[in-house]
Amino acid sequence: MKLLFLNGPNLNLLGNREPDVYGHLTLAQINHQIERLAAAYHVEVRFFQSNHEGTLIDVLQQTGLNQEADCIIFNPGALTHYSYALRDAIAALPIPVIEVHLSNLYQREEFRHRSVIAPVAAGQISGLGIGSYFAGFFAALHLLKHNIFRPGNEETDAL
Ligand code: DQA
Repeated sequence: MKLLFLNGPNLNLLGNREPDVYGHLTLAQINHQIERLAAAYHVEVRFFQSNHEGTLIDVLQQTGLNQEADCIIFNPGALTHYSYALRDAIAALPIPVIEVHLSNLYQREEFRHRSVIAPVAAGQISGLGIGSYFAGFFAALHLLKHNIFRPGNEETDAL
């Protein structure tokens, strides 16, 4: 089983960026903890971050269409709220994408309450800090174990 953890704009600044909102861990520290979790479950993980929408689309396409991962756990940053291009890229993939956010979008500014990604994601996890990535990891294991592409489009008794 192979998972890609993909992070969008400004998430390279974690640790320094608004620590009261996003915590004190750097992205490298978060990825290291995910690596340790994945090793315990014998799951292969890869990580990628970009500040560029087009690069994220290229990585989604390459990873999904070439089956380089079985599932993508994706924090699209602010692109969550307006990128129809990312949404279309995800809709075209044959593998599930789980949307994750460190902060709780629904406790924040109004513009963050809307995700254009959520309708095409397998699910959304928001507000658990690094735990959102851990929850994304276990959600991916669950979806892949039961062969669920998007809950609701599949057998519900597997849920
Ligand atoms: C975020 C939430 C977004 O609204 C914001 O633009 C981010 C980070 C989160 O992880 O909480 O960059 O995706």
